[in-house]
Amino acid sequence: MVNIRPVHVTLTAALFASGCGGVGAKPVTVPADLASYANVRAFVTTHLALDLTPDFGTRTISGTATLTFDRLDQSATEVVLDTRDLHITKTETGTDEQHWSDATFTLDTPTAAFGSALRIAMPAGATRVRVTYTTSPGAKGLQWLTPAQTAGKVHPFLFTQAEAIQARSFIPLQDLPGVRFRYDATIHTPADLVAVMAAEMAVAPGEGHGTYQFHMPLPIPSYLLALAVGDLKFRAMTERTGVWAEPSVVDAAAKEFEDTDKMMEATEKLYGKYQWGRYDLLVLPPSFPFGGMENPRLTFATPTVIAGDKSLVSLVAHELAHSWSGNLATNATWTDFWLNEGVMTYIERRIVEAVYGKRRADMEAMIGVKDLEESRKTIDVRQDRTLLPDLTGRDPDDAYSSVPYEQGALFLSFLEAKFGRLRFDEFLKRWFEDHKFQSVTTAQFLDALKPMMRESPVVTDEHVQEWLHAETVPAFAVLPTSDAFVKVEQAAAAWRSGGSTDALAATTKDWSTQEWIHFIDSLPRKMDAAALTALDKRFGLTESRNAEIAHVWFRLAIANHYTAAYPAMTEYMTRIGRRKLILPLYRDLAATPDGLALARKTFASARAGYHPLAQDSIAAVLKGQK
Ligand code: BES
Ligand code: ZN
Repeated sequence: MVNIRPVHVTLTAALFASGCGGVGAKPVTVPADLASYANVRAFVTTHLALDLTPDFGTRTISGTATLTFDRLDQSATEVVLDTRDLHITKTETGTDEQHWSDATFTLDTPTAAFGSALRIAMPAGATRVRVTYTTSPGAKGLQWLTPAQTAGKVHPFLFTQAEAIQARSFIPLQDLPGVRFRYDATIHTPADLVAVMAAEMAVAPGEGHGTYQFHMPLPIPSYLLALAVGDLKFRAMTERTGVWAEPSVVDAAAKEFEDTDKMMEATEKLYGKYQWGRYDLLVLPPSFPFGGMENPRLTFATPTVIAGDKSLVSLVAHELAHSWSGNLATNATWTDFWLNEGVMTYIERRIVEAVYGKRRADMEAMIGVKDLEESRKTIDVRQDRTLLPDLTGRDPDDAYSSVPYEQGALFLSFLEAKFGRLRFDEFLKRWFEDHKFQSVTTAQFLDALKPMMRESPVVTDEHVQEWLHAETVPAFAVLPTSDAFVKVEQAAAAWRSGGSTDALAATTKDWSTQEWIHFIDSLPRKMDAAALTALDKRFGLTESRNAEIAHVWFRLAIANHYTAAYPAMTEYMTRIGRRKLILPLYRDLAATPDGLALARKTFASARAGYHPLAQDSIAAVLKGQK
């Protein structure tokens, strides 16, 4: 494989000048945001400059953040930034790059949901602030890994996860999706480690030697800011796509994700040109708490999707598609999250259909509907079961579930079915084109639908309202179907009514991951131990290296107290920190006293290796239990 380097940026003064021209209208008004203290009616960030040094010994990042603002209110006397657990040592204000004066600041008493407002006194005419600070070792948006938690076992690793409101735990800034800014960053690392950011990289791979510079020329919301530092290598896949990962992982990753460029082509055909230049993936160690994170130009991904057969790469389709829905047209506030994730889940399936065929896309959509039903059952706050949760006073992460993803995707599939694919494709393409580099609200989306609804009254206001506010899938939804899954269910039924495991093996010979998932999911939660043992012996399910198959198998094992799977399961729960894969296992275990004891024991030993977000979610699940 040729090793093509990521874009080389020439470090010209013009390019690095703050607030440089280019795409994106100036935000005049920023939508009110429940999760930020920033006084965006007075100041709106246009540029951020970072100079940061991670310290693996103290698990802190220190340095400066310099923010440039559009000053909307000349009479304002302070600028308010979001912070969480930051130690602020100095604040300065300025009117230009050269002239700085010390400024006084106060930090409000923190709230658990949103952290503390940092108030910096702003003299008349000042448009910049420079904050000198250090993060705390428990920063919610950072995960510091010991060498033992990496593939290579020699070097430590650091990565950030800013979405939804964790950027404030490693940078003082206006932390809300309604504000977009460009940025430049200088990151100082130990000499043997490499820094990458979701931005243009000013040095080619292998040439950093302790100082790395980055430039993001397109305006992004704070939740898309991302950094990772570790023993990283780059492998090109095509001229515009490549993979970053630890040396021992990078080849397998490049092989697994080699269709990425094809996915880009398929998406461009549907929704217009890719706007971000390169598209690379960073494969993180297994404690990464998400499947993927759509950081622009550099998706962060869990290694648990490297199954060896490309069967889980719809994750790449998903994160890539955010380059349109989310990163271009961005949810105005976290209440509109379904516009990021639901629209995107719909598009993800369209890309999978284009690259891997309708059969696979339909199977994945059906698995999605099942997830939705499952996930709704575990949601206590009723409004969180709808597309529009009430986030007043809450960290948006507390409302995270499959609902915005799958109810949102079903809503769009419904619109496609009613308006026709051609028309709906044109509509979405227009939507992205008209709203690129802007915030979008649910109301705007509904407005944009109006002309089509007037022309074709097949979709009514009542339909739309039900999609948004119903706690269930509307009866008039157009649900996915799959012949493949009908066959899987027949195979399951035949085996359960006395068919031999050999006969089952003949049927399952060519099954895909999705068929296996559906098969295991359609088995009863009460089975006799002999049947489970036979299945496990024949198909090696407890030892499956496919993380999604193992996940559904372990859930079946817990339901049936099939303890032969438990050692492998607890090893899995310790090694993997991806919340979607481990949280349901903790929840299932917690349903019985024995299981709860095992869950507590596993959590006690695995906890330190989990990301702060995963720690919080699991602690919440276990706390609810006696
Ligand atoms: N943007 C999300 C991840 C996210 C959402 C992080 C909210 C923090 C707060 C990402 O695009 C995503 O949806 N990831 C999924 C992948 C999947 C649906 C293919 C995940 O991590 O499970
Ligand atoms: Zn997503």
